[in-house]
Amino acid sequence: MFEFIELTTKSLLELNLTQVLIGILTIIISILILKFLLFKDKIVKFVVEAPIEAKPGWNDGKILEKPCLRDVSNPGYITCYDPATGQFLATIPAHTDDDVKEALKKARNAQQKWVKTTFAERKRVLNSLLNFIINNQEEICWVSSRDTGKTLVDGKFGEILSTCEKIRWIIKRGEKALATEYREASPVMPYKLAKIEYHPLGVVAALVSWNYPFHNTFIPIISSLFIGNGILIKASEQVAWSMQYYNKIIKTCLIECGHDPDIVQFLCGFPDCGEAIVRSGVDGITFIGSSSVGKQVMKAASDNLTPCILELGGKDCAIIRHDANLSHALPIIMRGTFQNAGQNCVGLERILVHESLYNEFVDRVTDQIKKMKVGSVLNDDIVVDVGAMTMSGQGERLQNLIQASVSEGAKLILGGRPYIHPKYPTAQYFEPTLLIDVTPQMTILKQELFAPIMVVMKFSTDEEAIEICNKSLYGLGNSVFSGDQSKGDWMSKRLRCGMVNVNDFGATYLNNLPFGGVGISGFGRFGGIEGLRSLCLMKSVTTDRIPFFKTSIPRVLDYPMHSNGSSFVSNLVILLYDNSLIDKIKAITGLIKNSSS
Ligand SMILES: *[C@@H]1O[C@H](CO)[C@@H](O)[C@H](O)[C@H]1NC(C)=O
Ligand SMILES: *[C@@H]1O[C@H](CO)[C@@H](O)[C@H](O)[C@H]1NC(C)=O
Ligand SMILES: *[C@@H]1O[C@H](CO)[C@@H](O)[C@H](O)[C@H]1NC(C)=O
Repeated sequence: MFEFIELTTKSLLELNLTQVLIGILTIIISILILKFLLFKDKIVKFVVEAPIEAKPGWNDGKILEKPCLRDVSNPGYITCYDPATGQFLATIPAHTDDDVKEALKKARNAQQKWVKTTFAERKRVLNSLLNFIINNQEEICWVSSRDTGKTLVDGKFGEILSTCEKIRWIIKRGEKALATEYREASPVMPYKLAKIEYHPLGVVAALVSWNYPFHNTFIPIISSLFIGNGILIKASEQVAWSMQYYNKIIKTCLIECGHDPDIVQFLCGFPDCGEAIVRSGVDGITFIGSSSVGKQVMKAASDNLTPCILELGGKDCAIIRHDANLSHALPIIMRGTFQNAGQNCVGLERILVHESLYNEFVDRVTDQIKKMKVGSVLNDDIVVDVGAMTMSGQGERLQNLIQASVSEGAKLILGGRPYIHPKYPTAQYFEPTLLIDVTPQMTILKQELFAPIMVVMKFSTDEEAIEICNKSLYGLGNSVFSGDQSKGDWMSKRLRCGMVNVNDFGATYLNNLPFGGVGISGFGRFGGIEGLRSLCLMKSVTTDRIPFFKTSIPRVLDYPMHSNGSSFVSNLVILLYDNSLIDKIKAITGLIKNSSS
């Protein structure tokens, strides 16, 4: 009997399970089909060919004897070249003050129309751009590698993955971040509706660094477009060549989606062009670059009191506590140091290792760094770990800093000098370097290296590590590695900086938290809710909660002033803010008396 019941329930269950599974599957497939049909209209497919020079193996460029962006015989032009091979790429006219004025005029005109587009229309542009990026990952990274010398993995991380994540976030969360926000009304005026509205600023400008030309250019573009701003974008002259491709991408995307492409204006040129943009009368400026140029931007922006967001350099630490798991920390620290040949504003520039782990740490990184290969990812037939130095003239500066530290007592374990490529002797490389026993007073800690150099320091107490870390004038990001989560948190609270990752590197950025620092690392934030809002005109507005309940000035406070006016306000203050109930009651009677005539 029981067996029978058991059997039937079992077969029933089995039957139901199959049916349920088929049911669920049908629902999932229908949702996917529906999503596909709905989504079809949300993406416009378009094609932009990458320049021929970007193709791996391209070797038709003239090898420059002394690669340099400026040619004295041709002052109005930028000489573009591949830092990983020294091949000449193109000569591009540098924009002038007049070009900047013209660009601003066009962007202002286009913005009048753009500001009227809906979020759905803007999302369609961003979805189409996202689709293009996903389908053109290789080409985008080739272009970026050709112009900066970075490896493809560095490009996939820094140019593609990070950009896709920012676009995904803005499509999903941007509208909510810009929605009108309601705040609590004060007890003085409880009948008020107090709110904050986020409006476009107008036409903003972004002057961005060369380390991730695609990402650095597209982040301000997508934020500005989403908000309803027009934008003037100028990347460093180091990457003027790749900007031509990026310009075509965004313009084609806008045109194919049915919008005026003038809303985005690319400019390229030397520092005078940057200065012309800052002084042009744009409505906001984002600057990503060095602290010294950041100061000049702020000065120039004071002409029109243009608000700026300054994302400047960093001298980030990784603190490895005694209880850290080295096997976990090491690969992260290696990437944090050598990603993009160390050319990251949040690159790890100081590795602080607890004395109990110091020797093991040094042995293990020595083994790894020794095996790292330097070269051109597009023209060498090896798997490249470290690409080129994008800026010329860095070898000598870095070598001098390293030599100074050695004479001050540091130990150079590996590297420490420019790497001369056997096939491309004028290319710009620096050997992956390991410098240990660095102490807080050494010269090398005073400036940002922006290079494939691991600087290792020893500490014995948490306090000492925090002190070393905080001593820097920079305060961008830091990492703390600890086996004890609460200790990691405790340390992170004491570090003077804008971002901390416990047991990680760069995670704040990928998790869409605001990016920015303190001290000479600058101020203001991009990324996340705060970043989006900082490109907006934040407007505080009050209206009445109930339409017929409005502020009315009591007669005793109306002009011409009454002798009881002052006493009335005093009683009001007591009523609202005094803690004593008796005093509050007295105040009410006082108010009635004051206003009775
Ligand atoms: C240390 O980290 C490695 C790599 O993440 C992991 O495999 C290992 O289990 C960790 N060891 C301990 C003791 O947690
Ligand atoms: C940074 O560290 C110093 C030295 O330990 C400490 O006095 C200071 O309070 C720290 N700064 C912050 C912002 O916590
Ligand atoms: C002023 O206030 C006093 C009490 O403080 C009250 O007696 C008097 O009527 C008030 N005068 C007028 C004109 O409202």
